[in-house]
Amino acid sequence: GGLWAIVPAAGAGTRFGAALPKQYLEVEGEPLVAHALRALLSHPAIEGAVVALADGDPHWPGWTELEGKPIVACLGGATRADSVLAALAALPASVRPDDFVLVHDAARPNLSQADLQQLLERGRADPVGAILAAPVRDTLKRAGDDGGIDATQPREHLWRALTPQLFRRLQLTRALEAAQRDAVVVTDESMAMERQGHRPLLVEGSEDNLKVTTRADLALVAFLLRSAAA
Ligand code: CTP
Ligand code: MG
Repeated sequence: GGLWAIVPAAGAGTRFGAALPKQYLEVEGEPLVAHALRALLSHPAIEGAVVALADGDPHWPGWTELEGKPIVACLGGATRADSVLAALAALPASVRPDDFVLVHDAARPNLSQADLQQLLERGRADPVGAILAAPVRDTLKRAGDDGGIDATQPREHLWRALTPQLFRRLQLTRALEAAQRDAVVVTDESMAMERQGHRPLLVEGSEDNLKVTTRADLALVAFLLRSAAA
């Protein structure tokens, strides 16, 4: 079967607070979601992408292909997991149940081909799959409700989960459905897999592959994308 990517792009960008959802903010002449899709579709192993959109999304430019590869749009859901489940269901039948699928945030425009290649190589050699991640650099404090510090959490062995995340189509579907059934909010695909007893591989990726959440993030990815283009 073929390798497809899923790009959840149905979020509202509440924390960013712009007039339009953050995945449609333009950097270097294109919306963030276009950068995310191009990074994925530029890789020779990736055959196409499914993008999950908000109901009646007026901002989606209606692309049916980019980089010469097909893009399928589907209706997303109320949570990120709902959106990914909808996209999994919208994959073409050429993607078999055991085939790997990539999931990548629409608001993460600066994925490098080197990181994508590493994730694919190492993740497809793993029975379960893999995620990109970056080591925690700050000192971590656990605080009580009163704001007093109770403990310092050693940061060794702690990683920040990035995307893409690579899992098999059917296993990921089952894992997200289980989380939904148990009413557990999973903030990434790996968390849903871990709940099922799987142990995904962690692949170190670049910190430049950041998710735009705030205005400072947007300024930083704009700088990084400009530097890469120069
Ligand atoms: N996402 C989605 N469907 C949802 C919620 C989020 O497809 N119901 C997508 C977002 O569009 C984004 C990715 O999941 O590409 C990561 O989510 P996040 O950074 O939290 O984006 P938003 O939910 O849009 O932002 P916020 O939480 O600030 O509202
Ligand atoms: Mg969100």
